Amino acid sequence: MTAQILNGKQLAQQIRTELKQKISLTQASPSLSVIIVGNDPASEIYVRSKEKACNEVGIKVHTYKLAADISAAELNELIDLLNNSHDVNGILVQLPLPKHLSPQEILTRIKPEKDVDGFHPLNTGLVLQKQPSAFIPCTPKGILRLIHSVKGDLSGLNAVVIGRSHIVGLPVSHLLLNENCTVTIAHSKTKNLPDICQKADILIASVGKPEFITKDYIKPGAIIIDVGINRTQEGLKGDVKYGEAIEKASYITPVPGGVGPMTIAMLLENTYEAFLKQNRS
Ligand code: GUN
Repeated sequence: MTAQILNGKQLAQQIRTELKQKISLTQASPSLSVIIVGNDPASEIYVRSKEKACNEVGIKVHTYKLAADISAAELNELIDLLNNSHDVNGILVQLPLPKHLSPQEILTRIKPEKDVDGFHPLNTGLVLQKQPSAFIPCTPKGILRLIHSVKGDLSGLNAVVIGRSHIVGLPVSHLLLNENCTVTIAHSKTKNLPDICQKADILIASVGKPEFITKDYIKPGAIIIDVGINRTQEGLKGDVKYGEAIEKASYITPVPGGVGPMTIAMLLENTYEAFLKQNRS
């Protein structure tokens, strides 16, 4: 069996085109404020992609680039200002933050109604409780959208998520549980990982190690979602050994062009949703 490619770039483009159309019909433009602290090169690339995508669909975007040594008090002051501004619908603090800043403290400061990344503990809780008002974190939301583009009902499927981060592993596990999957969360201390993965109808790899998942981890016919973005000497690599996995899976996301573009499309969608909610009340 050769897997079909889950083309995130194409699906994301479709979502962006639809959003652009919807936004063109609104009286005002949705607006997003992005905060980046320090000079992390990968973060700078991600933020530029987010700005470009916002501009393309008609979301006003303003980026605040702050010095790496900014204090928590100063950063919180900016967040409060944006929280209280009627002209700002969404607020995003790019991660990772410099070591002296606590992401928990900073992310909790953002008003949950403007938390388009879905990282505020209130939104985490709303996702757990399957509340439709939750902002769902962008990468997990994009992963679910990709899976649903080829499979409607996920009830009873075995899903294995490798990785337990607050950005990907944990929230995607909750979303899959909400879809009635039987979910296993594996991590660096998990024993017999290949055995566990071989039972996965859906395998989500968020490991951070290039080409870690070989064919021995894959159940024939599985859906493979590769969240890895590993910069190696041979270029960008996912967490999955693509050439091997494609021979065993039914569907697989490429790197690049799989999950990455969906993350950005979901950020645009969350910002548009924030705009709608704030203009309804
Ligand atoms: N760093 C890595 N992924 C993300 C994300 O989805 N949002 C933010 N704000 N920072 C990130």
